[in-house]
Amino acid sequence: MKFHITTFGCQMNVHDSQWLARALESRGWEETGAEDAQVYILNTCSVRDKPEQKVYSELGRVAAHLRRDENVFAAVGGCVAQQVGRGFFERFPFVKLVFGSDGIAGAPNALERIAAGREERAALLDFVTLYEEREQPDQPVAADESRQAFVNIMQGCDNFCAYCIVPYTRGRQKSRTPEAILDECRLLVEGGVREITLLGQNVNSFGLDKGGVGVSFAELLRSVAAIPGLDRLRFTTSHPKDIAGEVIRAFGELPNLCPSLHLPMQAGSDKVLKAMRRKYDMERYLSIVDGLRTARPDISLTTDLIVGFPGETEEDFQQTLDMVERVGFESSFSFKYSDRPGVAAVNMEPKVPAEEASERLLRLQTLQNNITRECLKNLVGARTDAFMEGLSRMQDGDAVSWKGRDPAGRIVNVSMSETAGLTGMMVPVRIVEAKKHSLVGERTGEPW
Ligand code: SAH
Ligand code: SF4
Ligand code: F3S
Repeated sequence: MKFHITTFGCQMNVHDSQWLARALESRGWEETGAEDAQVYILNTCSVRDKPEQKVYSELGRVAAHLRRDENVFAAVGGCVAQQVGRGFFERFPFVKLVFGSDGIAGAPNALERIAAGREERAALLDFVTLYEEREQPDQPVAADESRQAFVNIMQGCDNFCAYCIVPYTRGRQKSRTPEAILDECRLLVEGGVREITLLGQNVNSFGLDKGGVGVSFAELLRSVAAIPGLDRLRFTTSHPKDIAGEVIRAFGELPNLCPSLHLPMQAGSDKVLKAMRRKYDMERYLSIVDGLRTARPDISLTTDLIVGFPGETEEDFQQTLDMVERVGFESSFSFKYSDRPGVAAVNMEPKVPAEEASERLLRLQTLQNNITRECLKNLVGARTDAFMEGLSRMQDGDAVSWKGRDPAGRIVNVSMSETAGLTGMMVPVRIVEAKKHSLVGERTGEPW
């Protein structure tokens, strides 16, 4: 069978799609372009209204393609699937499987049964209380060219931030066992992986649910960092309320823990943070930032911000701008508040008018662009290693432009004579120029 996966949403979805693709390939299926696919899989996101709407327009496109071949069918997974569930079967009869993130472990077998005509439709929407291990290779598999990998450490979220649909779509927090995580990481590194990103909606509360076995996130981090041959270790996402002193200090102690942290602040006003039910205030947030910078002075901090949360005044918003400036985030994802079905903020008043929210978003993004530019300018002259991801999209001049990332995850473009063979290599560079969202490096040594 030929299949195609389209993925929306966060890195957890990206990783889920990668896992599903490997599981189908191990059954002899083949990943192809959208045009040739016999099975379309959509892995969806419902964190805001926009990505949810994209799912329906994508299904419209699939429907048009389907008219040419009635054996072709679709599967919808991820957060919108969990939310809408069997509703998809009525609206889009060619959808034969819906699966949520807890149901994904059973998706490869369900797809096989449907493709073989042994089952008409299936819905894998039950939440589980303990992390369900997914099939994994039991010996090292050669890493793909990028030599980077994601590893799930938990699923779901217990925080119920007032605006957020994730706890409803991904269920309660379920930590994976440290043994399963470490086994997967070791096999990946043995297969050639050099960079691992540990994933969870709230990694700092790892082990604090029913699945916990008394191993904290800081301890897990240490064990993974100690795997010989692992050059870079990252993790995401961190909730400020749960970050432990030990994790903060780890940035100064573990040489392969990358000097960057995504620490969603959401808002700079204590009043708004309280209404959002974030359970920290700006004093606490700033003390975490101080701790991180003491542990690792070159740490690069990035964040998520929401503007126009119900009740946000101009003064509250001003506090967000002040905090963004004070912390000096290198970059941020900023969003207009979007009402999601069933979340607490739906009933909070007053709503901020759409034009006002758009205007705030623009002001915030203008400020952020200026800060980003300053941060990148300060790096000119620095020496570092760029981990090569492949050729840059933009090519100019005679030399070939390669795209890599420095340890903090910043994009570094490097001109080199090689036209192939550098993906997955570290190239020593000196930063020679700062662009708007990236750096330009000059090679200073042999790739390793
Ligand atoms: N678990 C992560 C984030 C998950 S969602 C965390 O807690 O940090 C990613 C981001 O989407 C959030 O950080 C938030 O900024 C944004 N977001 C979530 N719900 C939203 C909503 N209803 N409207 C606008 N932005 C939202
Ligand atoms: Fe959503 Fe909050 Fe959980 Fe993040 S911590 S996924 S924002 S409820
Ligand atoms: Fe989206 Fe679900 Fe991730 S809502 S952000 S795909 S957890």
